Amino acid sequence: MDTQVGIVGAGPAGLLLAHLLRLQGIESVVLEARSREYVEARVRAGVLEQGTVDLLVEAGVGDRLRREGLVHHGLELRFDGQGHRIDLSDLTGGRAITVYGQQEVVKDLIAARLDAGGELLFEVEDVTLHDLEGEEPAVRFRRDGADHELRCAFVAGCDGFHGVCREAIPAGTLSVFEREYPFAWLGILAEVAPSSEELIYCYHERGFALHSMRSPRLTRLYLQCAPDEEIDAWPDARIWEELRTRLATGGGWTLGEGPIVEKGITPMRSFVVEPLRHGRLFLAGDSAHIVPPTGAKGLNLAVADVRVLSDALGRWFAGGDPSGLDAYSDTCLRRVWRVQHFSWWMTSMLHRFPGDDPFDGRLQRSQLRYVSSSRAAATTLAENYVGLELV
Ligand code: APR
Ligand code: PHB
Repeated sequence: MDTQVGIVGAGPAGLLLAHLLRLQGIESVVLEARSREYVEARVRAGVLEQGTVDLLVEAGVGDRLRREGLVHHGLELRFDGQGHRIDLSDLTGGRAITVYGQQEVVKDLIAARLDAGGELLFEVEDVTLHDLEGEEPAVRFRRDGADHELRCAFVAGCDGFHGVCREAIPAGTLSVFEREYPFAWLGILAEVAPSSEELIYCYHERGFALHSMRSPRLTRLYLQCAPDEEIDAWPDARIWEELRTRLATGGGWTLGEGPIVEKGITPMRSFVVEPLRHGRLFLAGDSAHIVPPTGAKGLNLAVADVRVLSDALGRWFAGGDPSGLDAYSDTCLRRVWRVQHFSWWMTSMLHRFPGDDPFDGRLQRSQLRYVSSSRAAATTLAENYVGLELV
């Protein structure tokens, strides 16, 4: 089997890369360890930056997104029982974010891939990479009990944080930058109308809480919890009580409750490897970097990487121009580090850290008041949140 680009992983990064390459007439094969049902059902992030939406629409995979996505022009910061609206659109010259589940993006991209007759192989096993430093790298894998080899000009490592591509790079070649946070998020999806039209990022003595949504009938909520928390320690009634306590306001706001249809714990980590390239292997998305979810950036960063990578591969296949590929890592890392900083900043402002003292708490409240009252400070949050065009 031969192709131009071997893509490992059918998350948003791998699937969108395959699609953007096809639009330029470049062939690829996507290899995914899980089943189609599994990747389509996996509940992940849900906030798309303006630039992400624009790219998906331009690429012809934005029809359902435009119909069903919820466009938000603002968000709420809630602390000391009071809400403060950040008018994202007013502060950013009319830009907005769209709430649309990552798994909906994945479903749309899988449908587009299969409609176009593109190769997308689910449930592959034992993926290994070979000859990355040569002119014709290979990806070996097993499928339905048989061994296969895919020879290609380039390999894209889009296999997420726990994938094999980053690990295939010889030890000592990559620099790793990492920060683990001493907390996690407990997330639920509940069958109930959202209790607010906009997202609510809430700072509370007992820890952070987030009110988000997926549709007019599905609410997504998160609670800061201990990093080693057992999900069994959180029966539904305890989750609702904690959410009510943290999100409570002095006014008449109430949190709508409904059946919980999904529950999970997300660890919080910042992680980057440099560079994003080794020979003919290019890392994109979560395989190369992780951000804590407070800035809602993971999916958007994966999309930004593959936009740069597909352009660079396009130039190479069109006429052998290597300049885009040579610049890939540096170009992406500029955005990666801007987003790392923003995600770390939002996380630090909104969470309680074990062992923090009243001084830390006073600083956080002062920061929250400043962001909510100064146009300059609010603009910093807003322009990063909707996504910077230039970094
Ligand atoms: N072989 C083949 N596929 C693999 C392997 C492997 N060895 N290891 C992992 N995969 C697959 C996973 O099953 C997954 O479907 O690679 C895919 C990686 O997808 P994501 O984890 O969604 O990563 P990415 O496409 O980079 O998207 C980043 O995902 O975690 C969220 O918040 C993050 O929104 C961000 C987005
Ligand atoms: C979500 O809706 O899942 C969501 C929203 C905002 C975040 C993180 C997650 O910052």
